[in-house]
Amino acid sequence: MRILVLGSGGREHSIIWKLSLDERINEIISFSDNYGISQLSKNLKTENDDLNSIVKQIISLSPDLVIVGPEEPLSEGITNLLTEKNIKCFGPSKEASRIESSKIFSKKLMMENNIPTSYAEFFSNFDKAKNYCLTKGYKNIVIKADGLAAGKGVFLPNSEEELITILDDIMNKNMLGNSGKSILVEDRIYGKEVSVFCFTDGVNFSKPIAICDYKRVQDNDMGPNTGGMGCYTPPEFWSIDLEDSIIENIIVPTINAMREKKSTFQGMLYTGIMMTKDGPKVIEYNCRFGDPECELIMPMFEGNILDVFMDIANSKLKNNSVKWKNKKGLCVVICSGGYPEKYNKELEINGIKDLEEKIICFHSGTKMKNNKIVTNGGRVLVLSNIDDSINACRENIYTQIEKISFKDSFYRKDIGLRAVKND
Ligand code: GLY
Repeated sequence: MRILVLGSGGREHSIIWKLSLDERINEIISFSDNYGISQLSKNLKTENDDLNSIVKQIISLSPDLVIVGPEEPLSEGITNLLTEKNIKCFGPSKEASRIESSKIFSKKLMMENNIPTSYAEFFSNFDKAKNYCLTKGYKNIVIKADGLAAGKGVFLPNSEEELITILDDIMNKNMLGNSGKSILVEDRIYGKEVSVFCFTDGVNFSKPIAICDYKRVQDNDMGPNTGGMGCYTPPEFWSIDLEDSIIENIIVPTINAMREKKSTFQGMLYTGIMMTKDGPKVIEYNCRFGDPECELIMPMFEGNILDVFMDIANSKLKNNSVKWKNKKGLCVVICSGGYPEKYNKELEINGIKDLEEKIICFHSGTKMKNNKIVTNGGRVLVLSNIDDSINACRENIYTQIEKISFKDSFYRKDIGLRAVKND
């Protein structure tokens, strides 16, 4: 079988790593010069980076299955374009991807179907938005741009002045392009966050896996937000009862509501949940695997993941066909100095081959230059480990991580620390 994986980060490297363990697959194709990906796949150059050219190239390659990593091509409709040409594709349609690409679509879906979430109002007029926000009070609201914003579309204002600047920047000055032309203003809620990942073919769904992600760049959740600095599974507060209640009150109603909206969701449903004092509430949905969460999902998956991808692409996923290892997992992201703002590229990386075998090293932003592995992004490497306790995973990773060196590299030292006492 020939499988094509679209995307070029640590998420896609981990998917390709898992697929590479499956003997039925003869060839994995990628369009990425990520060094980790290039070691496990045939790396082709794209003729052009626009969606239509990529789709044309994929059609000419005629793979048995395409797996789409990032949200942008999904929200632009790559799955629709490929399936129209009888190419099987893992990833939701354009209509279903609105669950991530339009925050207004997903909030309405939740509010109309009694899926627990915080109350929100929607605006495309600056003055009306400003009046509403000032009446609510800056401390009590979260402002979200409607469209995709690469993790930069959520704002928690710290003063009235900042609140007005945010609205002006996104609604009048188009700081986020069209993504900020419409916004939603949500009531602010508080609690621990958890991401719940569930495979679904739009009717049936898998047992979920729950993961806690660290979004801030520095230890103790300080500094700006990032794409994710590390994560662990399961959360210390997770239980079968909590899982059952999230399935009953959130996952099942979401899958059913999407079907009823003629937007059947097939792929990986990623639900961001806050554990409030009134119970779990949905903060957002994503239409893809998280990154770096995928770098734990792949090692935690028991068996052949290709069957699940294929069953979903063929709309015949069996309930309970996915098994997660009875283990704990943790990963830590190594970044380039300056991330998530400005950072240097093409810094030589040393030490990858010195890591012990039990550490899986996924490449997020690397490439080969002049026979050396060099950095090629803000998030550079992800070290993942599976063991019997979060404490063991932390020990395994943090005793090895200093073997990796490049100029100005850094990583968070507190990933999973809060879960250790519950191990
Ligand atoms: N790690 C957060 C995300 O993938 O959106």
